[in-house]
Amino acid sequence: MLNRTESNHGMWSSRLMFILAAAGSAVGLGNIWRFPYLAGENGGGVFVLAYLVCIGFIGLPILISEILLGRAGRQSPIGAMVALADSVGVSRRWSVIGWMGALAGFMILSFYGVIAGWAMAYVPSTLSGTFVSISAIEAERSFEAFISDPWQVVGWQSLFMLLTIFIAARGVGRGLETTVRYLMPALFGLLILLLVYSAVTTGEFIAGLTFLFQPDFSRFNTDSLITAMGQAFFTLSLGMGAIMAYGAYMPKGSSIVGTATTIALLDTTVALMSGMVIFPLVFANGLESSAGPGLMFITLPIAFGQMAGGQIFGTLFFVLVTFAAITSSISLLEPAVAWVVEKTKLGRARSAMLVGVIAWALGLGSAFSFNIGSDWTIANGMTFFDTMDYVSNNILLPLGGILIAVFASWRLGQDQLLNEMSEDRAWIPVWRFLTRFLAPAGVLIVFVVTIF
Ligand code: TRP
Repeated sequence: MLNRTESNHGMWSSRLMFILAAAGSAVGLGNIWRFPYLAGENGGGVFVLAYLVCIGFIGLPILISEILLGRAGRQSPIGAMVALADSVGVSRRWSVIGWMGALAGFMILSFYGVIAGWAMAYVPSTLSGTFVSISAIEAERSFEAFISDPWQVVGWQSLFMLLTIFIAARGVGRGLETTVRYLMPALFGLLILLLVYSAVTTGEFIAGLTFLFQPDFSRFNTDSLITAMGQAFFTLSLGMGAIMAYGAYMPKGSSIVGTATTIALLDTTVALMSGMVIFPLVFANGLESSAGPGLMFITLPIAFGQMAGGQIFGTLFFVLVTFAAITSSISLLEPAVAWVVEKTKLGRARSAMLVGVIAWALGLGSAFSFNIGSDWTIANGMTFFDTMDYVSNNILLPLGGILIAVFASWRLGQDQLLNEMSEDRAWIPVWRFLTRFLAPAGVLIVFVVTIF
């Protein structure tokens, strides 16, 4: 059994800081940009229901497994998997979890940095009044003009990646923890403010709630199911080692089940609240709820542009999105950064730069998918951006998730398990049933159904 109480990379100063960091990773573009538009495209309430089921029965048990493996291994996901496999005498090939995870991290960051850059770009443009009284057509044109300019898109993506690298370079304590300590409370505050604004000024709050919570089964199909599952993985940052890396810095002696449940609840609450902010704005202004990825960048500016106080609240909204994205992107980089620190003599700052520059370069492919590279299609007419999103979310994350669940529940030593879950003894049988059988079977069924 491995029995380390500290990692070489530093530690979160308390359980609360771990919760803020992990919730910071979880809460991101997935909650504010992706969840509302997916719910809009997939029939609202039914999608939300499928998503909640996936969170509870697949996401939460795997979230627990990732924290558990990370805390037991106390290293980068690749290093932790090698050490854990050695400690129970199974093949080191299990470290594929770490390798696949690092790959998925680069792929996700490639498109994540682009969308985060757009959100950042919308802060000054909303503040300067670009969208005041804008018409639907003008809003669409201005968004199209923006994304079809490679210089703008790459410029903002680069700025966002630079920030991410800067924070990662400062290390776990001075970089990551300091960032989440301030940005997470700010994020929750802004979200509550916007919720009140949306509820008070639109008069369509109930319509928004109905759309989100009333299932319309006619609009649901198997494609919606895999989308809901992929979203559950994406929004909880599961399946690629981000939470494993963060778990390695979690102090010993606090309940993993309780902590994981708090993180999942916070994440789900933010997704639902974002929906409750966005849909009333959409309905009050007679806009289309199924607008897709453009929901946040076309529909919302129109809505804000028509409303009293929209200039200031719209700006705050994009500040919120930027904060949420930063606390997530640093977790996408962390597994690879920690691994380079362990394997080379580069040190934290240079490792962060090396890994960050690779992610940035891959991101250029995603940035160009909207302009000069819009016809570089890979398969099925998908652009580089679409491919990165599809392969990472719908294939790599669920696959990584199954492997994590299987390793934690079938391979990890009983002594190690009891050592990490001593506060959660009563939950072990439930967790074990879910991770041994239900979660892997659930993911496999969704895979099979999608392929046929
Ligand atoms: N969960 C984040 C979001 O919803 C994105 C994210 C951060 C992520 N780290 C991850 C997704 C690791 C998958 C894996 O925006």
